[in-house]
Amino acid sequence: MSPLDATLLNGFWHLVAHRSELAEPGAFLRLDWALGDLVLHNDEGQIVAFDNVCPHRGGRFFVEDHGVGRAICPYHGWSYRGGQVRVPLAKTFPPGALDKVALRRFQTAWCGDFLFVGIAPAQTLEAQLAGAFAPLAKVSGHIAGRRDFNAFAFQADWRVAVENALETDHVNAVHPHTLAQLGLKEEATVHDGLNVTYTGHVTDSRTLRGLKTLSRFFDVDGAYPGYWTIYVFPFAMVSSTFGYSYSLQTFLPSATPRRSHFCSRLLASKIKPGYEAAVAAFLDSSARVNRQIFDEDHAICARVSPHYDLTSADRVFSPGEARVARLHAILTAMTQQEDLP
Ligand code: FES
Ligand SMILES: [Fe+2]
Repeated sequence: MSPLDATLLNGFWHLVAHRSELAEPGAFLRLDWALGDLVLHNDEGQIVAFDNVCPHRGGRFFVEDHGVGRAICPYHGWSYRGGQVRVPLAKTFPPGALDKVALRRFQTAWCGDFLFVGIAPAQTLEAQLAGAFAPLAKVSGHIAGRRDFNAFAFQADWRVAVENALETDHVNAVHPHTLAQLGLKEEATVHDGLNVTYTGHVTDSRTLRGLKTLSRFFDVDGAYPGYWTIYVFPFAMVSSTFGYSYSLQTFLPSATPRRSHFCSRLLASKIKPGYEAAVAAFLDSSARVNRQIFDEDHAICARVSPHYDLTSADRVFSPGEARVARLHAILTAMTQQEDLP
């Protein structure tokens, strides 16, 4: 892992889940990142984040990406429950031998119903999110639950993937049959600290008509009536069309160069009572289209040459790539330990 990636991973809060994904006691999520596994687990109502390594001899508690179950290590039966590591036949160990036994836990914090984890964050989550805290908390309250979970090893540096997510110049060439169908126009961006919100009008009249028709089924007052994204520095992105569902994407660094760990989740918004069946097909198709869009982005990101220098001072950015240019300036300043732009 590069020193910059280590600084970002250690020093910042990371958006990793929505509360609804961990609502049930025993619910867990497992994500990959440069440190191995990151597990989020509902431990008798408490959400805990840990490294998935059994403190006995290293067995992994969970191997699936998500599910519901007890944190019990299949090797010798050590488990974690009620905030404690439980050891079978603990009395047979020498006195004091188990005193220091603990999971490697990470810090957690909430922005509304969005869960963040931190290793050694340099500031509070509120300070890190700045003006993005309130809008993020608001949309988190629109979300009812997860409809799709799509994780894969991304064949590009996280920075290539995030830069791709931060501009729409590539949409017509890379997503002609998916994202381009929205006909995005009048794009605008708002910076809040290191985070940035983007809005674009949907101008394709057929798509727009279809989207407007759906508004009576969803309980999403005040959602942006167009395409909306928020980049949550450094590794997460949330996007939505009309607020009917939210796509939570994480681009976590990998210990392997030119690789990253991608995960996207389709989080559906609250549906008005009685309309679940009416919108099921729409949400299924949103999940399918999102998967296709991420496959398209993955293919183009994997094609970026490993010899292209992401850190060069000579990189050129179009007006539509202003968010990429700003990220480049922020990361350059961090690397050179200068004040952030
Ligand atoms: S390695 Fe987990 S119980 Fe032994
Ligand atoms: Fe894209």
